Amino acid sequence: MENATQNWEQMTYPFYNINLSYNLHALEPYIDAKTMRAHYDRLLANYIKNLNQILENRLELQGLTLSELLNYAETNHDLELRRQAGGVYNHFFFFTELRPATGQIVIGITPQATQKITAAFGGWKTFKEQFASAALSIFGSGYAWLIKNAKGELKITTTANQNVPQDGTPILCLDVWEHAYYLQHLNERQAYLDAFWNVVDWVKFSERI
Ligand SMILES: [Fe+2]
Repeated sequence: MENATQNWEQMTYPFYNINLSYNLHALEPYIDAKTMRAHYDRLLANYIKNLNQILENRLELQGLTLSELLNYAETNHDLELRRQAGGVYNHFFFFTELRPATGQIVIGITPQATQKITAAFGGWKTFKEQFASAALSIFGSGYAWLIKNAKGELKITTTANQNVPQDGTPILCLDVWEHAYYLQHLNERQAYLDAFWNVVDWVKFSERI
């Protein structure tokens, strides 16, 4: 189970849904099981099915990882491939960066991670505020991201639809499509955002940053 979770970035066709290191009700009360079933079990599974259908007869693409497929789609303006491969990549990233809440004591943040966040944003509070403001600014469907650019600088950015960031390596992503929160929070994106911080896997975050 753990290997599947860690190795999705190396996965090639045929794609399959990853096993998560937590149960679908384990993120409650922050993200409820009903939302997780709709989001992870059904919506992500559908992106995977669509991506496999696209790749079924395209032998030249079957050995490519999600990142490689996305690069190919970008270069060749293959919108449908970009949508489906992006939908799988973004959801794999999102679901594997989460973990059950650890209560009042946040565990897993290394001093180095705090140092980098402080250097780039002035501290955790301002980082979270700026990330929230980016997430709230997305009109329609998309993602908020913390990325590291080619110069090694941390930047907050957003992408529309199932696009992935083109200007750096993802560190953290937040799915702000309504399907990610509507069942639980209706249209209250801010409430979803507040809940999100409780279920981030800070160990993984600290490794990536
Ligand atoms: Fe989603």
